[in-house]
Amino acid sequence: MLPAFGHPGPAAAQDDPIADRQEVMAALSEAHKLASAMVKGHAPYDATAAAGAMRSIAADAATLAALFPPGSETGDDTRAAPAIWRNFEDFVSHIARLRAAAEVAATSASQGLAGFTPAYDAVANACKACHAAYRLPTGNAPAASSDMSHP
Ligand code: HEC
Repeated sequence: MLPAFGHPGPAAAQDDPIADRQEVMAALSEAHKLASAMVKGHAPYDATAAAGAMRSIAADAATLAALFPPGSETGDDTRAAPAIWRNFEDFVSHIARLRAAAEVAATSASQGLAGFTPAYDAVANACKACHAAYRLPTGNAPAASSDMSHP
């Protein structure tokens, strides 16, 4: 197994889809947290920032399907469920659901917090639905000894 450390950047784009999709997920998470803080009242509502976060989620979602190629089922510390590759169409429909929800939420941002909140909820539910179906609670690589301690 190749070492999973010390090669961030475009050079890794083709040969490490697991690291790449985890990076995209981390970017999704950042945008999601920014919006979540506003929805929960932990940060003042900013329609431009909310729309930007939702647009970045939609754009990131567009890259996701390609980051789950056949052959990337195991390795590193992946938590991708093997079921992804048995039900790829369904998996892709979860991606499409996220993308559509994020596009709606980006548009709803201009309607203020009351308009944005339900659209944001749909985005959060799209994340959760896919994780429930296709993200393992822990890594599926038994040999992985260097746990990267996600929260
Ligand atoms: C289409 C399915 C799907 C959708 C939609 C989805 N995820 Fe994920 N997510 C996954 C899978 C599968 C993994 C495990 C990837 C791996 O470890 O190879 C994952 C992993 C993650 C991780 C851990 C990344 C890491 O470094 O290991 C975070 C954080 C995350 N997702 C956040 C989000 C957020 C936030 C959203 C919504 C904005 C979202 N995801 C939407 C399938 C999805």
